[in-house]
Amino acid sequence: MKILLISFSGSGHTTLCGKFIKKHYEELGHQVDYYIYHHDVPFNYDINEYDLVGFGYPIHAFNVPEAFCRFIKKLPKLKEKKKYFIFKVSGEPFCFNNASSYHIYLKLKRRNFELYAEKHFLMPYNIMFRYKDSIAKQMYLYLDALTKVYVLEMENNEPEKLWYAPWHVVLSFLLRIEWIAPKLNCLFVSVNKKKCIDCHRCIKECPCGAVYINKKGNIRLKATKCAMCMRCAMYCPTDAFRYGFMNPWKVNKPFLFDSLVKNKEVEPEYINHNTKGYFKKFNKYFDRQKALLEKYNIPNPIEEYRKG
Ligand SMILES: Cc1cc2nc3c(=O)[nH]c(=O)nc-3n(C[C@H](O)[C@H](O)[C@H](O)COP(=O)(O)O)c2cc1C
Ligand code: SF4
Ligand code: SF4
Repeated sequence: MKILLISFSGSGHTTLCGKFIKKHYEELGHQVDYYIYHHDVPFNYDINEYDLVGFGYPIHAFNVPEAFCRFIKKLPKLKEKKKYFIFKVSGEPFCFNNASSYHIYLKLKRRNFELYAEKHFLMPYNIMFRYKDSIAKQMYLYLDALTKVYVLEMENNEPEKLWYAPWHVVLSFLLRIEWIAPKLNCLFVSVNKKKCIDCHRCIKECPCGAVYINKKGNIRLKATKCAMCMRCAMYCPTDAFRYGFMNPWKVNKPFLFDSLVKNKEVEPEYINHNTKGYFKKFNKYFDRQKALLEKYNIPNPIEEYRKG
C-alpha cells in the first residue's frame, strides 16, 4: 500500500506522531511518504497515486490550525473517493476536543476524501504552562506504542473513530479564536533586544513565513500569516521573543524527548491512579489506551522502559 502523510506542527509534537506512524506502517511493509507543512517546501505530491492519506495537526482552541485549513482548501478535488485518517495531537484528553476536525472533514468531503479513522494523541502543552518532564516523558513513550495501535487497528480494518457531538461542533465553531487572535496579537509582538542574539531562528523556524525583519531592523510578524503555533517563542534560544498578549502563556524551550528518555532520573510515569488535581482527569484516557495496548498485544511502554 502507498500512504501519504501530511501534517502541520508548531513545536514538533505532531511531526513526532507522524514519524511514528510512518515507522509503524513501514514495519508492515508499506511505502510511506511524509509532507511536513512549511511555507518554503512546495507540496509536490499527486494524492491520486496513493491508497491512503493521513492528515495530522495539533488542536488549537478546539480547532484545526487555520494555516492547515487554508492548505487543505487548496487541495484539488480527487478523481475517485480516497480514504483518509486523522492523527491529532493535543495537551488534554477531554472529549470537547473531539469535534476539532469537523471543519476539515467538510472541506475534505467536498474534495472526494472519505474519513476512515481518527485518533487523538496526548503530548505536552506548548502554551498555557509547561508540563513536568515526567509527564512529557510518559506521553512520548505512549506516543510510540499508541501510534502502533492505531496503525494495527487500520490494518485490521478496525478503525478508531471519534464522535462529534453537535454541541462540541458548536463549541469549536464559537471558539475559532485563531481566525482573529493572531491578527491582533501580531501588533504586540516584540523582541527583547538585550537578550536577542540575532540567530534568526524565529524566522527560519516559522512554518508560515510570518516572521520578518522590517526596514528598521526589528523583528516583526505578518498579521495574516501567523498560525499561533508558538514555535518562534518556544524555539528562541534566549527567551527574547515576546509573543504579544499571549506571552504570559508562552512555554519557552522545546521538550528534548531523546534526552528525557535517556535520563533515568526522570520518572517515566507521572499520571496514574494516585495522581491528584488536574492530571487525575487524564486517567480515563490512559485506561482506555492501556486496554487497546492489551488488545493488540503491545507491551505497556512504561513497564518496558522500566525493564530497560
Ligand atoms: C493557540 C493554541 C491553542 C491550543 N488549544 C488547545 C486546545 O484547545 N486543546 C488542547 O488540548 N490543547 C491545545 N493546545 C496545545 C497543543 O495542541 C499541544 O501543545 C500540542 O502538543 C502541540 O503540538 P505541535 O507541537 O505539533 O504544535 C493549543 C496550543 C496552541 C498553540
Ligand atoms: S530566535 Fe530569539 S534570539 Fe534568535 S533572532 Fe529570534 S528573537 Fe533573537
Ligand atoms: S510567527 Fe510564530 S506563532 Fe506565528 S506561525 Fe510563525 S512560528 Fe508560529
